[in-house]
Amino acid sequence: MNMMEKIYAKARADVKTIALPEGDEPRTVKAAAEVARLGLARPVLLGDAEKIGAVARDAGVALEGVAIVDPAQDPKSADYAEALYELRKAKGLTREEAAKLTSDAMYHGVLMVKLGDAHGLVSGATHTTGDMLRPALQIIKTAPGMKVVSSSFLIQCQNRALGEDGLLVYADCVVVPCPTAEELAHIAVSAAETARKLCGFEEPRVAMLSFSTKGSAKHELVDKVKKAVEIAHRLAPELMLDGEMQPDAALVPEIGASKAPDSPVAGRANVLIFPDLQAGNICYKITQRVAGAEAFAVLQGLAKPCNDLSRGCSVEDIVNTIAMTAVQAQ
Ligand code: ACO
Repeated sequence: MNMMEKIYAKARADVKTIALPEGDEPRTVKAAAEVARLGLARPVLLGDAEKIGAVARDAGVALEGVAIVDPAQDPKSADYAEALYELRKAKGLTREEAAKLTSDAMYHGVLMVKLGDAHGLVSGATHTTGDMLRPALQIIKTAPGMKVVSSSFLIQCQNRALGEDGLLVYADCVVVPCPTAEELAHIAVSAAETARKLCGFEEPRVAMLSFSTKGSAKHELVDKVKKAVEIAHRLAPELMLDGEMQPDAALVPEIGASKAPDSPVAGRANVLIFPDLQAGNICYKITQRVAGAEAFAVLQGLAKPCNDLSRGCSVEDIVNTIAMTAVQAQ
């Protein structure tokens, strides 16, 4: 079984309800039908039922097993608006503004998740990362004990000697532009949790990456990573985590043995933590394009799972993201 087949099997074992705010977007409609057909989740398309039905007919798909919720007609809208008002009134949100936001499918979907009417949410086929992240950050907020929401990429490499049979976890490549040392430590702990839960890694081995290995270079950027290592050890003493180290020392056994001989992680890392978003985002895209790896993104650190798609996503990408979201919700 490849990685995604394993995730599909997990999703089927405990089926979750996933809200899809871009309910009349053709790829999303096709993906919802496919997810229901494969038994990966109970998809809920948000939007006007007639419009969604027309898109489904044009696409030649049946919406069997797919629920539709129209934010304009949903009897729960008043409860959602009140919940949103209570959550954001201290930030100056009025009741009128809360009611207006609740009629927006993105906010409506996030509120469904917040109030337990869906277990998770997937969007981003037409919206930007920020459009989805902001309501999720404001309403769902971070999981208990977590200071920061970030992302992990599951990177399936052709070279099976890397990571866990070719599977690596990269973080953060999507959310936090310039993490502090403390935020970097939280990103590392979250990524290890994603590696355990989603990838089934029994032993996440986390490398905190830098352009220095164990003091080979001196710079304030290196000091930030060293400090993040100390904080992460305090946050999760049982976690196998080490750094600072360069990616070759993290991944290649001989180089790890020569550059960081006493490290429990060097040469065998399966989770790579980048020092900032420029490094992470650039590296995941280069790994995809130059090394021909497959890359699947999830957000982590939210109290309930919400995941973002790329606007260039395929129907298969959406199906995969729904399956990963369903597993995160278990
Ligand atoms: N974790 C937890 N909470 C956060 C985080 C975070 N990472 N970021 C912001 N928040 C909270 C804030 O504290 C605030 O809470 P409050 O309103 O209750 O006080 C709320 O979320 C909104 O924060 P803002 O500062 O208004 O939001 P901001 O404008 O900073 O947007 C965002 C946050 C969208 C995550 C921003 O950091 C961002 O744009 N990141 C980069 C996204 C991106 O473009 N990624 C690259 C492309 S994606 C790809 O290539 C796959």
